[in-house]
Amino acid sequence: MRVPFAAGTDTPSLLWWQGVIYQIYPRSFADSNGDGIGDLRGITDHLDYLTDLGVDAIWLSPIFRSPMADFGYDISDHTDIDPIFGSRQDAAGLIEAAHARGIKVVFDIVLGHTSDQHPWFQAAASSRDDPHRDFYVWRDGPVPGSPAGGPPNNWTPGFPPGARAWTWHNATDQWYLHSHLPQQPDLNWDNPGVVDAQLNVLRFWLDHGVDGVRLDSINRLGKDPQLRDNIPGLPSRQQDWPVVHDHLRAVRKVLDAYPGRMAVGEVWLFDQRQLMQYLRADELHLAHNFVFARLPFAARAFASAIGEFTELAGEDSWPAWFLNNHDEPRAATRFDITPGETDGRGPGGSGHDRARLAAVLLLTLRGTTFLYQGEELGLPDTPVPAALATDRNGRDPQRTPLPWRPPSKAGPGAGFTAGTPWLPIGPTAETLNVSSEGNDDASTLNLYRRLIQLRKMRPSLTRGAQDLSLVHDHVLAFTRHTADETTLVLLNFSTDAVTVDLTQFPRVPESGLTVAVSTHTAGAGTGRLLGAVRLAGLEGVVLTQAVTLTPPGGPASRAVQPAAARRRAAR
Ligand code: NOJ
Repeated sequence: MRVPFAAGTDTPSLLWWQGVIYQIYPRSFADSNGDGIGDLRGITDHLDYLTDLGVDAIWLSPIFRSPMADFGYDISDHTDIDPIFGSRQDAAGLIEAAHARGIKVVFDIVLGHTSDQHPWFQAAASSRDDPHRDFYVWRDGPVPGSPAGGPPNNWTPGFPPGARAWTWHNATDQWYLHSHLPQQPDLNWDNPGVVDAQLNVLRFWLDHGVDGVRLDSINRLGKDPQLRDNIPGLPSRQQDWPVVHDHLRAVRKVLDAYPGRMAVGEVWLFDQRQLMQYLRADELHLAHNFVFARLPFAARAFASAIGEFTELAGEDSWPAWFLNNHDEPRAATRFDITPGETDGRGPGGSGHDRARLAAVLLLTLRGTTFLYQGEELGLPDTPVPAALATDRNGRDPQRTPLPWRPPSKAGPGAGFTAGTPWLPIGPTAETLNVSSEGNDDASTLNLYRRLIQLRKMRPSLTRGAQDLSLVHDHVLAFTRHTADETTLVLLNFSTDAVTVDLTQFPRVPESGLTVAVSTHTAGAGTGRLLGAVRLAGLEGVVLTQAVTLTPPGGPASRAVQPAAARRRAAR
């Protein structure tokens, strides 16, 4: 059985943002001052690690001044750095150091809401006549508790479940709108003053050398101006209102005035046809694709999502794929099921092994790859006891600090901090950490490093066309090809071994292919495969004409040396 899906075409040349973008959650990456919270200097000190991993860019979750009700997604000053993370000089130092290594920098900017501590909201809340009043969305309505009491409409925020999107403001007797926490009032994008002010924020950071912006909850910039109730079963009126596309065109114009810059949008949608509306030439360069991140672990599900995107996008939109971020459960946990359990997600295997297979997919598919810190170590979610929980929306387990060294050697901070980590370090840190995995050829870290290295060496894997098929109920196959080379990727989603006939792929050369990377063997294979390849359960392989990858090991251990020691060694 061979079920073909639409093919993409060979793209002549690629831009930096079409490569691998690594998301840093700054609180949890590396702490340079021992306060238990990661910071900008910690990131700068560990850039060698990212160079060795081979990423093209880093995206930093928000680092701006914030009361941290939503850990930085509630900004109180868009142009200053929160002292928890450092200073403006530290940000400049990080950008410079990253650029010196050829790594681009993406900042996470929240355009649609601010903190309730932002001077704009403080002014707006001071009186109904304040000039900033209309920067936010205020409505009259019956006072809560009065007989007809309740908010102006039935809109609900993204979280927490069951909450309402309006909070009563006693001092000025009106409701204000918030698409997230009450501490995150929505800005009124129908007010041209807001549009100007926020476009200036973008210009500020672009002027400071930022290469790209990640735009938080961006489809919420467009709302029904009449604030009519949502109707169950019909599209939400709180987001995706057509005016959002005017706003994005204005954002894109700002970016286009700076050569080579990029905008990726967090477009919280689960329908790729809708997503495509945002990926027009004069709107976003990239969009996070939540459809992909929520798929069950099944070859057929991935094949149809990828096939659908490819067909809808045609030549006009560039794909971007991710499986992990700071809001979603980590893949190694999400894909985990008890062996033998039938939950409809697939035919067995551990989350750890399934996540390794998914890594091969993520890094060989046509499109930008977004990785989330710790994914390259195969980290699962860390259970966080209720007494230590910090996020009111339950996202602590995927945000716990990155283990750099085994706690038995580095102490309880696992090389992340000399102090007490702000969230507990995972119980798997003794084996799943940068240093131990760097020295183990078979580790997940070295699998990621090999995959990224191969991707950089093979034009077929970056700009090549893609021909995707399901060659067995549980085997997803695709060739990536340019005029000069072919790479074949085979992914066995089942725990049973499977033999795949290579002659069914028209582009496989008669001289055969060799295994360049496998989830199951550390080194590249030497044998030439002619007629068929046998895949073990949950094995993923990348087959190419012969390539030589640099043996992993040394550089990762160098990257986890304390910064001071590295500076001494450099002298
Ligand atoms: C999406 C961000 O990824 C999430 O962490 C945040 O809580 C919401 N937007 C609100 O800004």
